[in-house]
Parts: sequence; structure tokens; C-alpha cells
Amino acid sequence: MKIAPSIIAADFTKLQKEIKTIEQAGADLIHLDIMDGVFVPNITFGPMIVEAINKMTVLELDAHLMIIKPEKYYDRFIECGAKWISFHIETVPDVPKSIEFLKKKKCHPGIAINPETPLKKVIKYIDKLDYLLIMTVHPGFYGQKFIPGVLKKIEEARNFIDRNRLRCLIQVDGGINGENASIIAHAGADILVAGAGVFKAKDYKKVIRDLRCSRI
Ligand code: DX5
Ligand code: ZN
Repeated sequence: MKIAPSIIAADFTKLQKEIKTIEQAGADLIHLDIMDGVFVPNITFGPMIVEAINKMTVLELDAHLMIIKPEKYYDRFIECGAKWISFHIETVPDVPKSIEFLKKKKCHPGIAINPETPLKKVIKYIDKLDYLLIMTVHPGFYGQKFIPGVLKKIEEARNFIDRNRLRCLIQVDGGINGENASIIAHAGADILVAGAGVFKAKDYKKVIRDLRCSRI
């Protein structure tokens, strides 16, 4: 199980310290929520901050693009250090082109799907992906409540990937904490993203350890 703390829930007045703390606490990736105020009702940060974060960490950066026309910005985010990039299926007209482009740039391609988007919308791309990001909240804000109805979709994705012996990882994002991590892990997650679950906890190391041990 990989753990990807979502940096938007960090205290940005001491970003460097927050990053060092999650590194020492055993995080595997840093999840970066890029929001444009159009695809989602919130604006976060862009490549400039990604570049600065990249200089502060040895961890790989995972950029979750919640923006329209993401294909215009892949290059820029890769230049700034993103090693994993997911785009929303709801935003891209030519999906194979996006996947090919990211692969050519040696970046892990991922597709993100909103809670109400069915798995069948992405099924034909799964064999070409390094990860599938299943949203368990409506994208836009950290600290929301996990939507349990999405568990079935995680199970469906897990079965499809295993049945077809694919190597696509399942990343689950939204409302994950020490209490619900275990059911999410058992449904089939490979990577857990956690914003408030990590950064609003007292002991980052303990939370990350608990999240990682969620699959028994
Ligand atoms: C939601 C983002 C998530 C979120 C995670 O739009 O994609 O990554 O910030 O934060 P929590 O774990 O607090 O829901
Ligand atoms: Zn995210």
C-alpha cells in the first residue's frame, strides 16, 4: 500500500517543515491537487508552487489535474517535477493521445473519475494506464466526507484489473482516514491519498503507519 498525503491540507506558512515531516513519517508520494476554478469550484496552485515543492523533497510528485484542457499543461507540470499525472476523463476529448504523450515523457499516466462517473467510461483505457484515480468525494475541497457508495466501483475496478492481469494501480482520493482506510484497502486500493486525514492529525507518522497497515 502506498500513501500519498495531499499537500493542500498542509499548513502553507510552514510548507517546508510539513514536507520534511511527511517524508520522515514514511509517505511514498506527494499528492498535488491542481484546481482551476472552472472544472471545480476552487482554485489552488499551479506549476510555480509545484516547482518549489519539488526542490523541497526527494519524494515523487503526483499531480492531480482538476482543470479544463489539462493537455495544454502536461509539459509544464513535468518540467516542474511531476512524475505522476492524472487528468479527469470528464475533461479530455482525446484520451489515448494524452496517455501516449505522458508515457513518452516518462511520466506515469493516470485517469481520474468523479464519484458519479461509472467505471465503464474508462474501462477501455485501463490496460494503458499506470493508475486509475477513483474519487470518493466531489473534487474541489479537502476535508469532505468519504462517499461510501463508491466502494462498489473500487471493487469492480479491482476485479477487472486482476481478472485481466493488468498492472494499473488503483488510487483512491477523498475523505480517507484511519477509520475507513481498511474497508477502502479491502475493496482494492493500492494508493491511498489523504489530506485532512494526515495533515490535521497530531502524529503524522502514526496516521501514515495506520493507513499503510489498513490491508491486513
Ligand atoms: C479533492 C482532492 C483530494 C482531497 C484530499 O478535490 O482531489 O485530493 O484534497 O483531501 P481529504 O483527504 O481531506 O479529502
Ligand atoms: Zn486529489
